[in-house]
Parts: sequence; C-alpha cells; structure tokens
Amino acid sequence: MVSRVIPVDNFDLVIFGGTGDLARRKILPGLFRRFLAGQMPADSRVIGAARSDLDDDGYRALIKDAIAEFGGPEKEDAEKLSAFLAQLAYVQIDAMGEGGWGALAKLMRKDVVRAFYFSVGPSLFGALAERLHKHKIADRNSRIVVEKPFGRDLASAQALNETLASHFKETQIYRIDHYLGKETVQNLMAVRFGNVLFEPLWNNHYVDHIEITVAETVGVGGRGAYYDKSGAMRDMVQNHLMQLLCLIAMEPPSRYGPDEVRDEKLKVIRALDPIDAHHIVRGQYDAKGEEPSYREDVDNAKSFTESFIALKCGISNWRWAGVPFYLRTGKKMKSRVSSIDVVFKDLGHTIFEGDHSRHRNILSIRLQPNEGMDLQVTIKEPGPGGMRLIDVPLDMTFADALGDDAEDSADAYERLIMDVIRGNQTLFMRGDEVEAAWAWTDPLIEGWEARNDVPKTYEQGSAGPEDAMALMHRDGRKWREIKG
Ligand code: BG6
Repeated sequence: MVSRVIPVDNFDLVIFGGTGDLARRKILPGLFRRFLAGQMPADSRVIGAARSDLDDDGYRALIKDAIAEFGGPEKEDAEKLSAFLAQLAYVQIDAMGEGGWGALAKLMRKDVVRAFYFSVGPSLFGALAERLHKHKIADRNSRIVVEKPFGRDLASAQALNETLASHFKETQIYRIDHYLGKETVQNLMAVRFGNVLFEPLWNNHYVDHIEITVAETVGVGGRGAYYDKSGAMRDMVQNHLMQLLCLIAMEPPSRYGPDEVRDEKLKVIRALDPIDAHHIVRGQYDAKGEEPSYREDVDNAKSFTESFIALKCGISNWRWAGVPFYLRTGKKMKSRVSSIDVVFKDLGHTIFEGDHSRHRNILSIRLQPNEGMDLQVTIKEPGPGGMRLIDVPLDMTFADALGDDAEDSADAYERLIMDVIRGNQTLFMRGDEVEAAWAWTDPLIEGWEARNDVPKTYEQGSAGPEDAMALMHRDGRKWREIKG
C-alpha cells in the first residue's frame, strides 16, 4: 500500500517560543518529517520567534541539533535536511514589549496561510494576540494554535477564552490536545462509525463497563514545578482521558465535520455525573532503590498532588445510564500502555452444560504501543474432551495489517499542524468543550482539597495503589492487566 500525502497550501508558520522544548522536541522534527513526506510546499516558511539573540543561521543550527537529538531515523538525510533548514527563519521578539514586531510584520507574505503557534505559557497569550493585531500581522484568515494547559480551572479557562476571543474568532483558534492527533484515537471514530458490527451493541443493553487506561513509565522528574501544581487530574484526565471518553461515548455525528463532532463530544461532557469521593483514588509513587519518590522528584516533601488517579464515572443519558466508566492514569507504572477496553455483558443463558466460567466479549483498543485492536471471543477448546470453552483474542495489530503504511503514520503534532494549515478544526478542542471539562473537574479537585485528602503511595513499576484495585473489586470487576 502506498500512503497518500495530501499537499497543503503555502504557509508562513510563526512559532512563538521557537527555541523552546516543545518546538525542539516535537514541532520542528515533526515538520521535517512532513517535509520529507512531500507535504511542506517549497515556498512555505517556518519562522521561529523567541527572546534569544539569534539570526536565521543561528536558528537553523539550533534546529539542526534538535532534529539530530529528537528526530527519527530519517534525520540522516543531510541534503534534505539542509533544504528543510533553508525554509526556516528567525525573529528575535519581545512578547511583552515592542521589540521585533516590526521585523516580523515585514517578513509576513500576502496570499499564503498565516498560522501562529503560541508555544509559550498562557500568561503570554493575551500579549501576543494583541500585538499580532496591533502590527497587522494577523489577518482575518490567520490561525492561532494554543497548547495545554488551557487554564487550571473553569475561571482561568474562561478568562483565557475571553482574551483570545477579543482578538480572534473561534474558527481561528486551534486548541491542541495531542491525543486527538494520534492515529488510533482517530481510528476510534472509524471503528465506531465505519462498521456495522459495533454500533448496535454500543450501549447499556450490551456493554457491562468500559475501562480507559493511560499508564506511563516516566516519572515527573524535570517537570516537577509544573506537575506538582497540576497533578494527574489536570495534566491528563481533564484533557486526554476526557477526549478518549468522549470519542467512545458520543452519539454518531451527522457528518465528520468540526462542529458536528465537537457538538457530540460536548454533550457527553455535559452528561457526566458528579463523582462521589469514594469513587476516586489518588496515588503518589514511592522511592524504590535509587529511584526517587514523587515527593523527591518535585522537591516538595509535603506534596499532596497525585501522580496517579483512578476513578469511576457515569454518563446520564439513554445510551449509557448504568454503565460505569473506569478511568486510570499514572506515572512510573509497570509499562507504557494506553488502551480502551469495552467489556460486554455476560450471556443471559448458556447452552453448554458444565461450563461455569464467565466468558465475555471484550473489545480492546490499544492506542500505544503496538497500535491495534483485539476482540476477545469465546470458542471451543481444541481437541477431544467434550465441549470446553476458552476465550481467545482476534488480534489485529495495525502494523501487521497495514505494513509500511502503519510505520509511516505521522506523529500527532505533525498531523495536527497540517490540519491547522488546511483549516480543519475537527481534531481541536472548542472553547465550550474545554470549559465544560473544567466545570466537571473543578468540584472533584475542590472536594479532595477541602478534605485534605492524602494520596496513597504506590510502588514504582506497579499498576498503582491497592485502593485502585478495590475500586473495581467492590463492583465485582477487575481491571484489565497492564502487560509489562
Ligand atoms: C502530556 C502530559 O500532555 O501528555 C504529560 O503533560 C504526559 O505529563 C504526556 O507524559 C503523555 O503523552 P504521550 O503521547 O506520551 O502519551
């Protein structure tokens, strides 16, 4: 199979924070991959804008190093790399002052797509938006891209939305949640709405419960200052896990269009029930041998912030009433696994005498690693000895089925940046979605803060605190194993 690369229009992409971590790790290496794939038109430019005193060549050298460090195997192609670097430029800019804005204005071209990536802290969003207008750098078709954290609660998210709305229309604002750029996350919609098989069963008549797990092996070392003010709820659940939950639970949109999809996601968030305190388990990883504890990693011996969270929630609508959704995510866990498991109900009646085991169909969608799906089905155990039943997975690992095309799949960031240039907002969060997610999250956080809730410790390399197991055991259920 040959991948089809759909070219985009010529663009000028300005990256504020162009020398920062995200630009070096993700944005520029991703753009280089799109360049290699033939998707970046030769007349397009990427303009780094930051405080550092650099010229174009200095910036190109910095990005060359970044691609050497963070790029994939393709970074070896020296000739192509030089051609890509030639499309980069740099402007030294003072986000809060006036320095550099005139120079940036002069660089901008007419008749190309103008996009501005705010790869900076949210406190600078207002200043940047204002100056882009004052210096007539942004026009009515320009797009801005903003990153999470998009606020830390409802009030701050509303304030950010208002700031951006005073300079840009909602159709110009692209709020990135990089989970929406992941191949398999988009596949969730393809699987649900592109097949006749699943949708008739996708409701409380047939589904017993749904699990969403995003387990990471990394700790918070290096990002301690940010993370300790945030915790797993704000860092992962309010955005990434919430988006997964929406895609799993939403009603079919009338078409695959930006507002149609986002309207349906919003309805899911608004239908989420409040959660009882005893349906939330928060954890912090402990020290293990030479490996520091969470508290040591964030340099805060009294921290009550969670590096793990598990919770049980429900959605009050016709489709899902009565079906529990169990979500968990954490750092320093057993292995890096993101998966969604749709566990179907038991058969009402078995015709097979003597078979007392519980056989269940489970659809497991693996987001990473080894993207794919498997469907657990019950079959006869081979061989003589009567009708004994066993459960086996019908496995579809996308890399096996799609060969090189699966390997070729673009990283989340590069895919999303190309969508910005195309003007397609389907995979970006709308302002009302973000606010609804905070409106659900805020009371939960306020609840445990008011209770002075102390997170349970858990062993590094485990599946989280014991209490997280109990959360499901109490309901007569068990988490799917996090395979190491
Ligand atoms: C980020 C979080 O948004 O997502 C990080 O801030 C987390 O804490 C990361 O590690 C996980 O992303 P991925 O793509 O590695 O699953």
